[in-house]
Amino acid sequence: MKSHQINVGIIGLGTVGTGVARILLEQKDLLKTRSALDFNLKTIVELNWDIDRDLDLAGVTCTKDANDLLEDPDINIVVETIGGYEPAYTFITKALKNRKYVVTANKALLAHKGVELYKIAHEHGVDILFEASVGGGIPIIKSMREALVSNKFKNIYGILNGTSNYILTKMHKEGLDFSEALKGAQENGFAEADPTLDINGMDAAHKLTILSSIAANSPVSLNNLYIEGIESITRLDIHFAKTFGFTIKLLAIYKDREDGLDLRVHPTLIDESHLLANVNNELNAIFVTGDFVGNTMFYGPGAGERPTASAIVGDIVDISRDLLLREGAKYPNRAITLTEKINLVSINNVKNRFYLRFLTKDMPGVLSDIAGVLGDHDISISSMVQPENEGKDGFVPIVLLTHEALESQMQQAIEKILKFDFVKKDYLRLRIFNGQ
Ligand code: HSE
Repeated sequence: MKSHQINVGIIGLGTVGTGVARILLEQKDLLKTRSALDFNLKTIVELNWDIDRDLDLAGVTCTKDANDLLEDPDINIVVETIGGYEPAYTFITKALKNRKYVVTANKALLAHKGVELYKIAHEHGVDILFEASVGGGIPIIKSMREALVSNKFKNIYGILNGTSNYILTKMHKEGLDFSEALKGAQENGFAEADPTLDINGMDAAHKLTILSSIAANSPVSLNNLYIEGIESITRLDIHFAKTFGFTIKLLAIYKDREDGLDLRVHPTLIDESHLLANVNNELNAIFVTGDFVGNTMFYGPGAGERPTASAIVGDIVDISRDLLLREGAKYPNRAITLTEKINLVSINNVKNRFYLRFLTKDMPGVLSDIAGVLGDHDISISSMVQPENEGKDGFVPIVLLTHEALESQMQQAIEKILKFDFVKKDYLRLRIFNGQ
């Protein structure tokens, strides 16, 4: 390994592999700033090179032969993104035995062969990381292993399968049938090639074994789990659950009880006010209770090219830091690098929607005068209420919501409005969160 250069190889240029390649190529400079490492995408192994993936692979060795990567002494990290058992198992074991670090999203393989793979990695002085195997882009494994390391985990409740969550959401919100909703999930690309494992609870169970092994510090076998899918849920069940104030979710459950671990995957009625009941469509969430931290919830995209690749590259950077430290390299600490010059935007140049509350005299012309000032400042009103019976001392409240407006314009408009003698000086101006 050249100093501070990390050579990465990818096996499998499907959806996730493509995302990893894209990040390594397009975010190279950002990764270098953050990690002081130069990530070099050296080799990609893929059988089908006929697809246009919109990647510039100049300088990357593109091959169909996995040995071009696995036998290359310069490769430090192998990313396995083919999924399934074989040939993924053979490639990963060979990489580990050749003392290459491995990053994978392969939850099915880890659920069945994880313990064996960790052992091989250990025997050969390398490691296998798998953040992307549970919850796609959500950093749940790193959080449990690092930030929450001091906690005993009491409960974990996971919505871990995007496909079944999408189906249940569509049934719940749009009254769709199971099969119509499944079709939508497949068209949107987050169901597995064979969606059986998504809907029969097995995919969520694979992910639960991975989380449980981390939480319990012990290998958890799939055989220990009770698993039930969502295939039997009808529109009618959704309707009745709703009537009683519940939402049905496929929940992966880990409970540390006095008499042992209670591990299950099954459809569950959740009170509609619970945070988990509001995790919709293909999104995932993991509600984790630690004995010190208390309740936490991790939420985000559980699948897809970019989120899954984001998690994989996080693992690549983690491994690389360890690699360099092992080699005794003088290496910056993990705190963020502070080398960039930034421009701060003045709040005057920020646009928001606004909530405005004025207290005005109850008399004709007030509204048009206020609206006129707002209009002069390019501020358009989206709604307005003047609650009756709320007045005091001859003044009544007027509440206005605006479309997006520039802060500086809003400030000037308010100053003018407050000069009207029919407007009291105490007013309230709040900004409306637009979610972006
Ligand atoms: N098929 C999986 C899901 C993809 O629907 O969540 C991510 O593992």
